[in-house]
Amino acid sequence: MKKPVNPWKNIPAEDYEAHMGNPMVGQLQALTGITQEALKKYLPPRFMMLGCCTGNGFEHVNPEITKQVVGVDINPDYLKIARKRYGSGIPGLQLFCLDLNRDALPLMEADLVMGGLILEYVNLEKTAEALQQIIPSGGTAVFVIQQSEGSSFVSDTRIKSLEILTTISRELDPQEVQRVFEEYRFLLQELQEIAIPGNKKFIRLVFEKV
Ligand SMILES: C[S@@+](CC[C@H](N)C(=O)[O-])C[C@H]1O[C@@H](n2cnc3c(N)ncnc32)[C@H](O)[C@@H]1O
Repeated sequence: MKKPVNPWKNIPAEDYEAHMGNPMVGQLQALTGITQEALKKYLPPRFMMLGCCTGNGFEHVNPEITKQVVGVDINPDYLKIARKRYGSGIPGLQLFCLDLNRDALPLMEADLVMGGLILEYVNLEKTAEALQQIIPSGGTAVFVIQQSEGSSFVSDTRIKSLEILTTISRELDPQEVQRVFEEYRFLLQELQEIAIPGNKKFIRLVFEKV
């Protein structure tokens, strides 16, 4: 039997960016700001971004400090764009096209792993278990999840290709994320609510690997 195609593979990058960057949504802007803050705070020699898409946030990598930058995503077209945009500015950039629900992460350590709006689409247990191998003790994982506060999970920007996401995304309970990650030796250090347009909020969770 043929396995179903993950809907993310059918969302053009231009549609994704037009939607997420629309001032009514403002999520690209909020996510890049969170990445900037984390890179500045943790100064990681090795950095990994899960669900990196076209590389939002990579513009804040300082290659003098962060020598290894790994991005993973299920959509090869997104990664091609990320490579084109950031490949020359980040000599240590490595991009892997894989499905976090099925494939193993590359066996590389990372001192800081980030994932903005990716946990909604993946198996939490499998992801936490994989990151246990990737992040050494003392390393950090930063995730952002979205809370819709009663409005639709995917804001209506009239971009049709994104409508499919309402059928595959699930809203996560931050306590559930904490419970699962704590099973894999990630201790919650911070939980911050960030207001974003459209009467929604982001929740930023910071874990330390112990
Ligand atoms: C909401 S976007 C977040 C993008 C990014 N954090 C940003 O700042 O724009 C989710 C990303 O996760 C990727 N993704 C979704 N499911 C995935 C999976 N199972 N394995 C790997 N990547 C996945 C999508 O292709 C998409 O690029």
